Amino acid sequence: MKRLFIFVVIMNTQPIGIFDSGIGGTSIFKEIHTLLPNEHCIYLADSKNAPYGDKPASQILQLSIKNTKLLLDKGCKLIVVGCNTATTNAIAYLRANYNLPFIGIEPAIKPAALNTKTKTIGILATKGTLSSHLFHKTSDLYASGIKVIEQVGEGIVPLIESGKLHSDEMKELLTSYLQPMLKEHIDYLVLGCTHYPYLIPMLKKMLPKDVSIIDSGLAVAKQTKAILEKHHLLNEEKSSPSIKLYSNGSLDILNTILNHQFETAYLDF
Ligand code: DGL
Repeated sequence: MKRLFIFVVIMNTQPIGIFDSGIGGTSIFKEIHTLLPNEHCIYLADSKNAPYGDKPASQILQLSIKNTKLLLDKGCKLIVVGCNTATTNAIAYLRANYNLPFIGIEPAIKPAALNTKTKTIGILATKGTLSSHLFHKTSDLYASGIKVIEQVGEGIVPLIESGKLHSDEMKELLTSYLQPMLKEHIDYLVLGCTHYPYLIPMLKKMLPKDVSIIDSGLAVAKQTKAILEKHHLLNEEKSSPSIKLYSNGSLDILNTILNHQFETAYLDF
């Protein structure tokens, strides 16, 4: 691939850009908006191309570049890759080729590995994340001596993207993924996909009380704040921010997951 370092002029009043393969990264957007209520935000839900998790790494990279270019065209000052699959497969390339800050999200193996008493943790993530070099590196670094039960969440993202979050189909799928982990006595379940926090109410009903669920949403929002502070890019304006969420798929499903609280629009990208 041709390498071209792209320079971007950045001002603190520009928006934060967030992208995901679909509506899952809205779980990250909500954490960011809660922590940084002054910030203008632009969100891209690439639902037309969801799921990313089953695609080859080269295609995940191309889709991540496409989303990044669009967020740059829209004047973003920082980009949050609100997708574990895109982070683990593309963030190194994005950081090397564009001179604005990128925040990524990775499965939070470290806190689970540090705190487990049974020395066994479960991780639910996409095939693209679990097979990535970055995931293996993180896992080797923090989870040596810990049994990590990896489970590909095949089918979960398509169900969420088609509005079947609370369906019997979802319950059956989750049961089949959790059973092998529970047999091995996990005490932490790491959610390695930004779609999965929407499953937490259902997962809490299905898991024993002594299994804790970990997701990285708040940590990503805190990291976004820290990086904006470091680069003097926090928006100091006091007027209410502009928040726009674009989808190239169903707006109904996006609006439902957002409880109709934010401005959304269809965009062909
Ligand atoms: N939200 C994406 C992630 O965090 C979902 C991946 C997919 O589209 O398969 O990995």
